[in-house]
Amino acid sequence: MNHAELIRALPKAELHVHIEGTFEPELMFAIAKRNQVDIPFKSIEEVKQAYNFHNLQSFLDIYYAGANVLIVEQDFYDLAWAYFEKCHEDHVVHTEMFFDPQTHTERGIAFETVLNGLRRACQDAQTKLGISSELIMCFLRHLSEEDAFKTLEQALPYKDVIVGVGLDSSEVGHPPAKFERVFAKARENGFLIVAHAGEEGPAAYVWEALDLLKVNRIDHGVRSEEDPQLLERLVKERMPLTVCPLSNLKLCVVDDMAQHNIKRLLDQGLCVTVNSDDPAYFGGYMNDNFFAITEALNLNEAELKQLAINSFEASFLSEVEKEKWINQIHAL
Ligand code: HPA
Ligand code: ZN
Repeated sequence: MNHAELIRALPKAELHVHIEGTFEPELMFAIAKRNQVDIPFKSIEEVKQAYNFHNLQSFLDIYYAGANVLIVEQDFYDLAWAYFEKCHEDHVVHTEMFFDPQTHTERGIAFETVLNGLRRACQDAQTKLGISSELIMCFLRHLSEEDAFKTLEQALPYKDVIVGVGLDSSEVGHPPAKFERVFAKARENGFLIVAHAGEEGPAAYVWEALDLLKVNRIDHGVRSEEDPQLLERLVKERMPLTVCPLSNLKLCVVDDMAQHNIKRLLDQGLCVTVNSDDPAYFGGYMNDNFFAITEALNLNEAELKQLAINSFEASFLSEVEKEKWINQIHAL
């Protein structure tokens, strides 16, 4: 088996994908037409040309604009279903997807509308494609603590549907400390905890995510490399980092894939995983991310298998499920 064949054959779990970031322009146009809402682009080509980002914020502005066309439950279903079809193509057998309720509730869309559409797609993915999934609700960190508390309240009746809570949007200037009390309440209510930290923000934000939010995983975390003591801790605790290589390239977190630190972090014993983040905007889904790092960093078969194993180890699957998939990887 060559490397590309191995990448395709490996069962994989995706742990860092924003469902609103899987919104392909073709579907965006179709749903905009169906809902009779305007979008600020004349054609699919024009949309794709706008996907030229120079930092996180330049992406977020377009990402939130795209999400505005999502209005009824079926829209959220169609969005998630299209992503599950990509999972199926890429042999992603388990996914833990983020959704941003505030992006929708701010526009007058009911929390239930979002959740019911996503939940139904998750159920169909299990029965029709054999893909297991979990939902992780993210707080938008550029909004207030009070707003996050309100969002958490809305999620409480759905504790059995939402496995965890996370933190996303504009990182710099909005440190994890801003949401310490919200995450304490989320933990008391049994939610697992993740947070974006160390993407554009400094290593200090990763320390805060660990110490104040008490995360089960760090999303991105690539800037942890700047702090050797932090790296030591991440290794000792086997704290997973959900790394998103094509995202880091498109948002200029790295200048060149050959400089990406995922291999260095793997070599140092960190539990790093490969993820697509916002694949419709960043030029590729799971396997595209694997192909890009394999080529740029010369990854070998053992490293590719380790990355896939890490994705299950770092997941919120049961120990029995983790072992089942990891055994399949060893057998390849
Ligand atoms: N970082 C922060 N917020 C986000 C991202 C990201 O990469 N993608 C979608 N929201
Ligand atoms: Zn992200």
